[in-house]
This record gives sequence, C-alpha cells and structure tokens, in this order.
Amino acid sequence: MSPASSMALLGTVTVLSLLAHCLVPSSAAVDFIYNGFQHAADLSLDGSASVLRGGALQLTNDSTNLMGHAFFTPPVPMLVNKAVVSFSTAFVFDIVTVGRGGGHGLAFVVAASKVLPGATAEQYLGLVGKGNLGNSSNHFFAVEFDTVQANGLLNETNGNHVGVDLNSVVSTLSEPAGYFTDDDGRNVSVPLESAQPIQAWVDYDGSAGVLNVTIAPASVPTRPHRPLISHAVDLTTIFKQDMYVGFSAATGKLASSHYILAWSFRTDGATQAIDLSRLPKVPKTPAPPPSVSTFITIVALSCAITLVVVVVAIGVVLWLRRRAELAETLEEWELDHPHRFPYKELYKATKGFRNSELLGAGGFGQVYRGVLRRSGGDTVAIKRISSNGTQGMREFVAEIACLGRMRHRNLVELRGWCKRGQDLLLVYDFMPNGSLDAHLFGAGASPSPAPALLTWEQRMRILRGVASGLVYLHEGWEQVVVHRDVKASNVLLGADMSARLGDFGLARLYEHGADPGTTRVVGTPGYMAPELTVTGKATTASDVFAFGGLLLEAASGRRPIDPVSGVNLVRWVRDHGVKGDLVRAVDERLDGWYDKEEARLVLWLGLACSQWQPEARPSMRQVCQYLDGEEVMQEDAVLLLSDVDSIDFGSFKSLTWSSCATMSAGSLRGGR
Ligand SMILES: *[C@@H]1O[C@H](CO)[C@@H](O)[C@H](O)[C@H]1NC(C)=O
Ligand SMILES: *[C@@H]1O[C@H](CO)[C@@H](O)[C@H](O)[C@H]1NC(C)=O
Ligand SMILES: *[C@@H]1O[C@H](CO)[C@@H](O)[C@H](O)[C@H]1NC(C)=O
Ligand SMILES: *[C@@H]1O[C@H](CO)[C@@H](O)[C@H](O)[C@H]1NC(C)=O
Ligand SMILES: *[C@@H]1O[C@H](CO)[C@@H](O)[C@H](O)[C@H]1NC(C)=O
Repeated sequence: MSPASSMALLGTVTVLSLLAHCLVPSSAAVDFIYNGFQHAADLSLDGSASVLRGGALQLTNDSTNLMGHAFFTPPVPMLVNKAVVSFSTAFVFDIVTVGRGGGHGLAFVVAASKVLPGATAEQYLGLVGKGNLGNSSNHFFAVEFDTVQANGLLNETNGNHVGVDLNSVVSTLSEPAGYFTDDDGRNVSVPLESAQPIQAWVDYDGSAGVLNVTIAPASVPTRPHRPLISHAVDLTTIFKQDMYVGFSAATGKLASSHYILAWSFRTDGATQAIDLSRLPKVPKTPAPPPSVSTFITIVALSCAITLVVVVVAIGVVLWLRRRAELAETLEEWELDHPHRFPYKELYKATKGFRNSELLGAGGFGQVYRGVLRRSGGDTVAIKRISSNGTQGMREFVAEIACLGRMRHRNLVELRGWCKRGQDLLLVYDFMPNGSLDAHLFGAGASPSPAPALLTWEQRMRILRGVASGLVYLHEGWEQVVVHRDVKASNVLLGADMSARLGDFGLARLYEHGADPGTTRVVGTPGYMAPELTVTGKATTASDVFAFGGLLLEAASGRRPIDPVSGVNLVRWVRDHGVKGDLVRAVDERLDGWYDKEEARLVLWLGLACSQWQPEARPSMRQVCQYLDGEEVMQEDAVLLLSDVDSIDFGSFKSLTWSSCATMSAGSLRGGR
C-alpha cells in the first residue's frame, strides 16, 4: 500500500470514524421548562389530553373511562454507552374531583414509545393493560400518583399513594402520599385529590442507580429535603437509547380531572425551578349540567326551603304578635282586687274572641261564650265592654270586684273580671236558655231556634225570682246596690228556666266614665223612671219602676213601648183596668191558660210600680210579698180604679202607693 493511499485510507477512516461519531446519539443534555403550556409547548397529545386556553395541560376531564397522554415530542437520549443518563424533573399537578370519590390517577412516564402498547384506562392509568402487565418488552418507567386502591389485584397499599412502576402498574416501590417537614421531620400526609396544586420532583442518579421522589403541596414554600422515596432502581433493562418523557392519566368508573400545570426536565443536571407564582389556573370546577331530575329536585328543594323559611317566619311573627297580644300590662291597683282573670285565659276560653263564639251584642258590648280550663271546662259568658274612658275604670273595677262577692240564686254570678286597655271583660255564669225577652218576643239574639212560649207558671216563677234578686240587691247587702238596668233582656234563664238577673251595677261604668259636665242618663227607654230624666239619679225606686215594666211585659207579652204602634204599655194596661177589664191585657197567646187572680195581681202590681211618683211605688220587698201572696190587698181598690178613670195618665202618676195599697185582690176580681 502506498503511503498516499494509506493516508487516504486513514483519512477515510477518520472521516468515517468522525461520521460514525456523529451518528452516535448526542449525549447533549435536554433541558426544558414549561410554566404553563400555552406558548409553543412541544408536546404530543393523545386520548383525552389537551392544553386548555389558560395554559393548563388537561390529561383527562372528569368523564368516566378516559385516558390521555402528553409526551415531550423529541426523543430524549437515556442510555449513553449502555449507562443510564441521570435526569431530574419537577412538575406541578392538580387533581380535581367533583363529587365524592375520583380516580384513577396520573403518572410521570419515561417510555420507549409515545404509544404505550396495550394501554387501558382505569387502574392501569393508561400505562399498560391487563395482558401485558410486567412484560419486559413494555420498556417504561413511571412514577404513579394513584388515587384509588385497586382491589387486591395491584398490591396497592392505599388509595392515595406514590409508586414506582417498571413495565407494570404493580409498583416496585410505593408510599402513602406525603412529605417530611424540614424542621422536625414530621410525616405530613398529602391528599392527592384535594384540588390543590402539588409539586413533585423525580431525580435519578444514573451512576448510583438511586431514584428520589419528593412531593409537597405548592403552598409549601421550599422543596422538602428528605425525599418521600429514595431507593435504588435499576433502569438499565428498562431504558432504550431514545426514550420519551411525559405524562399519562386515566379515569374509570370513578373520575377526576387530571391537570399538569408546569413542568421542567433536564438530563445530566438539576432541573430548573418552577415559578409557582405563574401557575395557570385550573378551570373552576365545572358544575355538572343539571339533569332534569336534579333540576326538579333543586327547584323542589329550594321551594320547600323557601316555604319552610316563610312558614317559620310567619309562625315567629304570629307567635310574637300573639305573645304581645296576650301579654298583661297590669296597673298596680288591679292586683288589689280579687277575681281577676288573666287575659290569656279568657283569650283561650273564647278561642281568641272568635265570631263563632259570639252569643250576642248589645249596648254594653259583645258577649262571648267561653270554656274555662281552670275550672274544669265550665262554660261561661264573657262580656266585653269597651269603656270610653279609663278614668272611672278603677272605681268601677273596685265595685265589680265587690259585686263579685254577691251570691244569690236569682243573680247571675259574676265570676271575675279582667281589664285590658280600654276593655273590661266580665266573666259570668253561662245561662243556657238565653234571655227573657227572647222567650217573650221570640226575637233577639239567642238562643237561635225560636224558644217555646212561656207558660203562666213559668212567668210567675221568673217574676218572683227577679223580684227576689232585686230585694237582695236593695236590702240584702251591706250597701244598697241599684241595678239601674232591669229589663227583659237582662233577665237570663237557667237550664231549669229559673230567672237570674244579670248586668247589675253595670250602668255605673257609664256614669263613672261620663264627662262630669254632662249628665248622661243610663237606662233603657220604656223602663226608665220619669224622675231619672230629671235628676239623673238612679234609686231603688227607679229599679222598681223598671220592674213594673217587666211585670206588665211578662203578663201581656208586649213590649213597654210597642215598636210599631208606639203604644205605651203602662197606659194600655191602665186603660183596661179603668174599664174594669184588667185581665184583657194578659198575653193572648196563653189562650186563657192562666190564673186570673194572679194575672190581675201582676198587672195591678205592674201599674203600681209604674207610678210616676217614686214615693208612690212599693218597695221591692213589698212587691215580693204581694207576689208571694204574703200580703193581701185591700177591698176598696175598685173604687180607686174607677176614680182613676176620670183622671188622665198625668194624674195617675200621683196615685200613691198607700192609696194603691188599699185596693184589694177581691175587688179586683170583679173587674172584668
Ligand atoms: C371530556 O373529554 C372527552 C374526551 O376528550 C370528551 O369527549 C368529553 O366531551 C369531555 N367531557 C366534558 C364534560 O368536557
Ligand atoms: C410480551 O409482549 C410481546 C409483544 O406484545 C409479546 O409478543 C409477548 O408474548 C409478551 N410476553 C408475555 C410473557 O406475555
Ligand atoms: C404484593 O406485595 C407483597 C408484600 O409487599 C409481595 O410479597 C407480593 O409479591 C406483591 N405482589 C405482587 C403481585 O407484586
Ligand atoms: C407516613 O405516615 C403514614 C401514616 O400517616 C404511614 O402510613 C407512612 O408509612 C409514613 N411514611 C413514612 C415514610 O414513615
Ligand atoms: C436522593 O436523596 C438522598 C437522601 O436525601 C440524597 O443524599 C441524594 O443526593 C439524592 N439524590 C438525588 C439524585 O437527588
């Protein structure tokens, strides 16, 4: 061989060797960093992977059975002269789960191919499949961040772990996700699915064959010094000369959104630090599009909640109002008088003064039926009187409380009282048969079905009863009590049709309350004694006058002043008497069924009581005695009555009791 040709050969060899040297893959370091992936990231994506507008790399959304891969597009030389190259990587991931349990996890992968053979979703994380678990031709290394504990199959320690995978997802190494604090070396657990960015570092020392894996929440300011996993791992049989680095993630029946927010990678040296302040945002947890049924549920629920809130609010308002309504504001003096009822009790007894409990309404106010719980369900009548002024109230209540102590079988028992603002409530025994005027005239408030006509005997019993009650008021008490409002509608009838006089003393309330400058006369037209209109002063004699009206009314069945014809009952009866035909005035509806003697007595007594001169009227005691037949009338009454014939009604008023008393029942008998 010539030296020249040798030289040429040598040159060729050099060129060849140089060429050959050039063909050997460069061991030049690969070094990249992506703080977010929006700007020209050199990534190859497949499956469900995509780069979102904000820069986050989404490997999967939270739909079921997805898998997604993202690889750095150029190959990375991992074996140089059969020696594994050192590499380090750092990345920030975020696993967002809607609902309770998510899955299945993500992994950092170094694989011989961007297409992983046989890869499936679910617990295989898009890395392998059931058929090629651990097959040595897989050629991948992965660090998995697994959020589901597969049932036994994959030998997983728990549902929140970091594992090192070689050709398989059955990890050769695995640790519960966590980190060690730098100061006291505490082991702090890191929930991978917590929807917070988590940084991971994977460092491999190719010459020592040691793998370090470290994780920490991005909120931890510096990388923990102690790795979570630090272990010898032989990658020589796994790695080929050119490998691809990237990520894989999968969902199964359980699903999470898996995101990579930033990634740096370097061979032959420490990777660049990720700037955590520039992490892309993970999309706000997308509210699952409400299905019709959830929509209905939501609407129904909110309606129900609103309803409950409204009902509760109304309830509270009503309760407060009712409490305020029922609250007692007592004046000091009220405590001094017995028989006081708490307003609340009366309110409850009348069901809140409901209209259905209204028995009647009259000049003094309304009367309600009430049932007292206190006395074991006794029925009472509660009279509500609205006084026009409170000035007289105090004295009146004092009197009422005093009257409450009066007991007589012909007086309606006053059980108690209650003052409330302008209102005075009086509690009486309930009289089931209503008032006398309803029985006499069929009209009136109660009871509603027209009552049966009263017999003469019943009328007599009622009149005797009322007279007896009035005697008690006038004489039987330590002080004289003037009733002031004797009339048929104030005569109430008990269950046995016995009479009880009600409302005694009540008219006083109006006198107390009246303006002292004006004398207001209280009473009922037709029952009011003539002197009352003059003096305005009620006396026992004015009660007698009113009782006279009652006598005539009961006997004749006519009103004191006929509402239609305006006929004055006293005058009308007297006219019959003057004609010597007194019993003609007796109620025609009785059809003759009455004791004529008694009828004459009653009519005559009625006239006697109705005399204009107060002193001419008998006292209630005398009235009683006459009614009871204890005193008999004198003989010469006929004369007197015929004398009356010649004088007009104005003169009749001057007829004195003493002259009347000279009339005898016997002479009256001949009147007809
Ligand atoms: C989730 O990703 C899959 C695959 O990319 C896609 O078909 C599906 O529409 C996505 N679902 C949602 C809710 O975005
Ligand atoms: C491993 O995978 C290769 C390629 O898919 C296949 O030919 C081989 O049979 C597999 N080996 C085993 C043990 O399954
Ligand atoms: C599962 O783990 C146990 C103990 O850690 C080990 O003995 C066993 O071989 C593992 N099984 C597989 C399939 O890797
Ligand atoms: C860290 O703590 C968990 C329990 O919280 C335990 O299972 C795990 O083994 C600990 N890791 C190390 C490395 O001590
Ligand atoms: C791995 O961790 C150990 C223990 O902290 C450390 O000594 C070693 O330098 C680390 N190796 C790499 C490649 O980071």
